[in-house]
Amino acid sequence: MPNPPAIILGTRPEIIKMAPIATEMGNRNLPFHLIHTGQHYSRNMSEIFLRELAMPPLDRFLDIGKGTPSQQLARCIFGLEKTFLKDPPSAILVEGDTNTVLAGALSGSKLNIPVVHVEAGLRSYDLRMPEEHNRKVTDHLSSLLLAPTKNNARTLRDEHVHGKIHVTGNTVIDACLRNMPVALKKSRIMDDLDLAQDSYALATVHRAENVDDPKVLSNFIEVFEHSPQPVLLPLHPRTVKNARRFGLWKRLSTSNNIKVIDPVGYWDFLVLMKNCSFILTDSGGIQEECTSPNIRRKCFVLRKSTERQEAVEANFAELVGVRPDGILKAVRNWWEKGARVPKGKSPFGDGKAAEKSVKLLQKARYC
Ligand code: UD1
Ligand code: UDP
Repeated sequence: MPNPPAIILGTRPEIIKMAPIATEMGNRNLPFHLIHTGQHYSRNMSEIFLRELAMPPLDRFLDIGKGTPSQQLARCIFGLEKTFLKDPPSAILVEGDTNTVLAGALSGSKLNIPVVHVEAGLRSYDLRMPEEHNRKVTDHLSSLLLAPTKNNARTLRDEHVHGKIHVTGNTVIDACLRNMPVALKKSRIMDDLDLAQDSYALATVHRAENVDDPKVLSNFIEVFEHSPQPVLLPLHPRTVKNARRFGLWKRLSTSNNIKVIDPVGYWDFLVLMKNCSFILTDSGGIQEECTSPNIRRKCFVLRKSTERQEAVEANFAELVGVRPDGILKAVRNWWEKGARVPKGKSPFGDGKAAEKSVKLLQKARYC
């Protein structure tokens, strides 16, 4: 029997998207080690997701804490290497494009441990984004690349990555399908916030290249102030910090058209997505979730580029840039033309991505 593989987690979306794989491995009695770097550490960015998604107890928490990107990377690599040297896993599974993912890929390859990249092959071709560096390097260091779509697989082939490429779908669709029924039962968020269905727009903003720029953050506030429906804004800690630093907090928190709340758990967020009129976001995962058959919401992407072109092509997402006039024009245009919900299938799979991924892990003899 090989040593079990190690699943690496660091941030909120990594927990959400790795949970279906961990569950699938659990269902097949396949052991694995669970390591959290501590990149996200607040209860509402980490612990709540581990609990709601029924993740087993962590085998290691590296507690890397706050820091510059290089400090974060260095602490992750140091902690992961120490862990892997003591107990080498059969493979290292990383998901997405965070600093934790790059650190996992680097520390694995330096020790000749195979790296499996879940959600491989996404490209925004926007080098302002730290995520673009992380995902590119990780793809080129990986032995097994699990691409959500055929388009992602084509990108990987065009770049001549050395690992094996398979199309699996995105595990976030598995997460939406599995968790919505329990979310609808357990979440009290609609009552707690006194919200009616289709009475609000749901917004999230946190991308570094957006919210670290005072002009762009101010543009977003202008959009939220003038949105055709009041905006519910569960605010990422990075954005809270920047809004305070740039003197924008009062404007954000006292507007009649904006309700700022703390980030919410997955059950609450699923229910908020399902019941909103539309979504305004710069998130990656939300561009995928809006296409889930049990959510199906129009999503305005507040960015200059996207690595989820499939969501745009399927008419769920619309890339509207970061200038207030352009964003508001697109939103009002859609709103005034009847606010239609897209009809097509999700381009990110059928909810079986985790099953396909685990079968591939077994075939590669990583578990
Ligand atoms: C990171 C990822 C990003 C992902 C996002 C998910 C990188 C380069 N970025 O961005 O790709 O979309 O996570 O949400 O890896 N903070 C807290 N509590 C926390 C976490 C963060 O207060 O639990 C604050 C800290 O001040 C921290 C700042 O947010 O310095 C930024 O956190 P960090 O993990 O560096 O980047 P994110 O913006 O969260
Ligand atoms: N999410 C959540 N609570 C929130 C905001 C987002 O549970 O308050 C979930 C959302 O459903 C999605 C994931 O967090 O699955 C996206 O995380 P984020 O936008 O932070 O990161 P990205 O996907 O951009 O890397």
